[in-house]
Amino acid sequence: MSKLIVANWKANKQLSEIEPWFDALDSSWIKNDNQVVVAPPFPFLSVVRSEILINSFDQLMSLAVQDVSPYEAGSYTGAIATHQLVELNVRYAIVGHSERRQYFHETNQDVANKVERLIAAKITPIVCVDDDYIQSQAAAIDDGHLPECVVAYENIAAIGSGDPTSPDKVSTVINQIKDTFDQVKVMYGGSVNPGNATEYLEICDGVLVGGASLDGEKFGQICSTNRWKKRKTWH
Ligand code: PGA
Repeated sequence: MSKLIVANWKANKQLSEIEPWFDALDSSWIKNDNQVVVAPPFPFLSVVRSEILINSFDQLMSLAVQDVSPYEAGSYTGAIATHQLVELNVRYAIVGHSERRQYFHETNQDVANKVERLIAAKITPIVCVDDDYIQSQAAAIDDGHLPECVVAYENIAAIGSGDPTSPDKVSTVINQIKDTFDQVKVMYGGSVNPGNATEYLEICDGVLVGGASLDGEKFGQICSTNRWKKRKTWH
């Protein structure tokens, strides 16, 4: 089963850094069948899309956004509607990241509304849930929508800290999420790097990578991780 590997650039990078990022990706990552996704800041979506095409990565790498409007297109100043993303070939959208919940005061209902818009637009939501609130955060999503989502489990303390949640703990939580939410796909995020990606890919369906995704070479190394294939994986 292929794994989902998502680069979340957050509010990092300048326009001039995008081409070098693609240049630094070692093409060896192409040799495996991981599904690679890049979530740049909104202003760079078109540029990243062009780079994907220029590098002939379009069968292997998809575009994602880090957030989306809970409303349809219309009079919502500053919002980006799903309608505008479809034309750019955006395939995934991260919603409910703990940084959005904390700094932008997003509620479970906001996240559920975004999921509804995304599913209507055939964009796969990557719904982030935090350690202490998994049940309520996931339960806010309409039952009918959950199977079409990917859940990203993240412990807030592990994000950007260089101190990832232990694989044992991640494995336990992921089993709980899968038991509760009908075998939904679950990724792990929080200080994933080239040195530990294999361990997490062995126990879950993918990884959400922040800091280490900013360096094209490191991200390429994570994408080329395929030792997990030799062991038992989720099906
Ligand atoms: P990190 O971020 O890899 O820098 O810990 C992960 C995330 O917030 O998704």
